[in-house]
Amino acid sequence: MKIIIGSDHGGFSLKKKIIDHIKKQNLDFFDAGCYSTESVDYPEYGKKVAVAVSDQQYDRGIVVCGTGIGISIAANKVKGIRCALVHDITSAKLTREHNDSNVLAMGGRIVDHDTALEIVDIWLKTEFAGGRHLRRIQAIEN
Ligand code: RB5
Repeated sequence: MKIIIGSDHGGFSLKKKIIDHIKKQNLDFFDAGCYSTESVDYPEYGKKVAVAVSDQQYDRGIVVCGTGIGISIAANKVKGIRCALVHDITSAKLTREHNDSNVLAMGGRIVDHDTALEIVDIWLKTEFAGGRHLRRIQAIEN
């Protein structure tokens, strides 16, 4: 699985932890920035990750800003993207099973960082359940 990960300055420290975590698992990933805590604008990184997933250059994307809200809104503007803002383990599992979310958003200033790593693990390994959920995600597309 190929993963692209991006953040603004508010998500930078959590993004670094996620990268260290997924490196240990030998997962194939690309860091789309930002690359420091200098203030940047989250739409740029939300869009960059979302477009790469939408274009099928990557299988999944992870985006992080301070709250996760702005960057998830930006990612969801890209066609074919189902970006889920998740701060708990149950939602991480259910958004894969029910929504086939292809981008995960988190708030680096909101979620406990150890919990965030657990969220990443569950979100990456959980499969889409299909069935009635397929009809529903198809209905989201315009
Ligand atoms: C940046 O200060 C902050 O607004 C951003 O990281 C995010 O929380 C926006 O939704």
